[in-house]
Amino acid sequence: RTLDTLGPLASRTVIVRSDLNVPLATTANGDTEITDDGRIRASLTTIRELRASGAKVVVISHLGRPEGAPDERYSLRPVAVRMSELLGAEVGFVDETVGEAASAAVAALGDGDVLLLENLRFNPGETSKDETERRAFASQLAAFGDACVSDGFGVVHRKQASVYELAQLLPSAAGRLVAAELEVLERLTEKAERPYSVVLGGSKVSDKLGVIAHLIERVDTLLIGGGMVFTFLAAQGHAVGSSLLEEDQLDTVRGYLASAAERGVRIVLPTDIVVAAAFAADADHEVVPADAIESSSFGAAGLGLDIGPDSAEAFAEVIRASATVFWNGPMGVFEMAAFAEGTRTVAGALTDTDGFTVVGGGDSAAAVRALGFADEDFGHISTGGGASLEFLEGKSLPGLEVLV
Ligand code: 3PG
Repeated sequence: RTLDTLGPLASRTVIVRSDLNVPLATTANGDTEITDDGRIRASLTTIRELRASGAKVVVISHLGRPEGAPDERYSLRPVAVRMSELLGAEVGFVDETVGEAASAAVAALGDGDVLLLENLRFNPGETSKDETERRAFASQLAAFGDACVSDGFGVVHRKQASVYELAQLLPSAAGRLVAAELEVLERLTEKAERPYSVVLGGSKVSDKLGVIAHLIERVDTLLIGGGMVFTFLAAQGHAVGSSLLEEDQLDTVRGYLASAAERGVRIVLPTDIVVAAAFAADADHEVVPADAIESSSFGAAGLGLDIGPDSAEAFAEVIRASATVFWNGPMGVFEMAAFAEGTRTVAGALTDTDGFTVVGGGDSAAAVRALGFADEDFGHISTGGGASLEFLEGKSLPGLEVLV
């Protein structure tokens, strides 16, 4: 159900479940700084539309993974400040999610006003495994509004109170961001133009198991970078020094390599690796062949922190020759300049190709922006990491299921 199904919203209180889970950093003088505001920007289309229709807008979101209790490090207060700047209108903030102060702030809203409540995950009911507890918390939230708009695409794969149960308790609909994300992702799952390449990075292969198995049946080429490369290299029998390695996934990865070979799907692994003496921005580093990681001067102590230049160029060539490219996960430790080149080259290739390109995920989106690329350089930058992967995997997502 889309926003249009909710009827006239003037003077109605509408709860918008956004995903404002943005990366934060602490500045030298101790202030909290938002390092990538992409998710806040992406939430504005729906909020603007609701304001324009005269609704009273109550925005709710999680931030990070606090453990069901208030934790100042994960407060949404800086997000309210940034949202006010971007919206060009005041966004009120109340430092609790439910309770008397939150009720009073909601009751005081005028038509077109926007209020952000404190982090949903400060309340144990939000992420509880117990459905009764989730439902109880969702009922407290539901009491604030006349309708609910689900616009937090990044969290639709979570069966959590504000994502799932809340939408059952109020008239609910997908917001503009969720609708836009689905349109793009459906293009990938239903009518991806060939050749279709997927670039996967990030640290852990165990986070990507389902999606890799699924993609092997659907894509032409799978390019693997990031920390998970070392489990692939080890599965092929190569020593990986002190690089990240998931021993318990070696058999699974061997299975992927075999099934890809059987299906004629190309799995492209890096042929060279940037190996460092330590996990540090100023660590000594060398480029070595991927099948001889321990040949660097750091021996078995060396750890791979980026794909090497030859690999990055080979990945870029595949990307430039593709009609459709989906990319999730950085190729290396892009936050450290010495290990950012692989990610930069891959991102650059995505901006060069004439094909349709989708960057999936909070981390990958933050990476391309941190490296100076603009959102417009890509076909689409998804706000969902886990959510976009699970969608591609063909899983049923609770936050979408509940809106059908
Ligand atoms: C994300 O960053 O992928 C979403 O905000 C979901 O966060 P979560 O993985 O902590 O549920």
